[in-house]
Amino acid sequence: MQKKKVFVTRKIPAKGIELLRKHFLVKVYPKDQVIPRKELLKEVKHCDALLSLLTEKIDEEVLSANPDLKVVSNYAVGYDNIDVKAATAKGIPVCNTPGVLENAVAEHTFALLMALCKRITEADQFVRAGKYKRWEPMLLLGTELEGKTIGIIGLGRIGAGVAERAGKGMGVKVLYHDIKRNKEFEKTYQAKFVSKEDLLKRSDFVSLHVPLLPSTMHLIGKKELAMMKKTAYLINTSRGQVVDEKALVEALKKKQIAGAGLDVYEHEPALTPGLIKLKNVVLTPHTASATIEARTAMSELAAQNIIDVLQGRKAKFTVNPEVYARKHK
Ligand code: GLV
Ligand code: GLV
Repeated sequence: MQKKKVFVTRKIPAKGIELLRKHFLVKVYPKDQVIPRKELLKEVKHCDALLSLLTEKIDEEVLSANPDLKVVSNYAVGYDNIDVKAATAKGIPVCNTPGVLENAVAEHTFALLMALCKRITEADQFVRAGKYKRWEPMLLLGTELEGKTIGIIGLGRIGAGVAERAGKGMGVKVLYHDIKRNKEFEKTYQAKFVSKEDLLKRSDFVSLHVPLLPSTMHLIGKKELAMMKKTAYLINTSRGQVVDEKALVEALKKKQIAGAGLDVYEHEPALTPGLIKLKNVVLTPHTASATIEARTAMSELAAQNIIDVLQGRKAKFTVNPEVYARKHK
């Protein structure tokens, strides 16, 4: 029997590619850039499985380009780049990589939070600019975390990871808001479930951990920013569109809130004009999951999802598992 074919849209850590090569013919898009749309549409025609990244729009057109496409495995926990409804209609499983990147992302959330509270980027620039002449009693005063309150919006694995570190490690009080209440979690971490409004009003740090859905688009906009404390920081490691970035830049300019730590952007990689001029922001280029550990595990998981489907099993992490039920009828 001819080996099945897998197309990988960009180089990812070798572990996953090696796993795939044990079973299938694997082609990896050779250039280190986001694959042009035309190339993607061409390549998808010749593969049984597509391993995609969040930089590719996997829409109806891509999914229809190959009637024999058997699985789309996204190298990410988020899958807002994929038209899942269209895939489901075609009976194509869409897979993702949860459970292996929450440490990386939760830690990165703290890196942003700490950088803001301790003014690390400002301090670094100050020293590099040759401005450090002597110790000064009032130089670059920051804030402590201990005793403050963090408000976590979205209590998935990542949100819970942030809550755990904040509550247990840093002496930070935890408030959370989610569509579901989790009483066991509340007991373990002394976390309090509150409304979104309450959370915004009471938190010193607001951290976003929701997936991008029609219901979470612009979850934080002008009205929400106005509810936050003047001394509060907003951290976003989820998806850029969860925040109305224009409203955020306005709020930051007016010092309506104290600052923001962003790993994701509404129109990334483009940035809202004015954002980079602000001193009270710390910006990273969507690298919250960019640890060797997480990215290696993600590559293995994305590969394993493909192996499972192409070998006739259900993949462990499928976002539209209803497609399997239909197939076995
Ligand atoms: C990264 O943003 C991911 O969804 O894995
Ligand atoms: C991360 O792995 C999540 O599902 O929140």
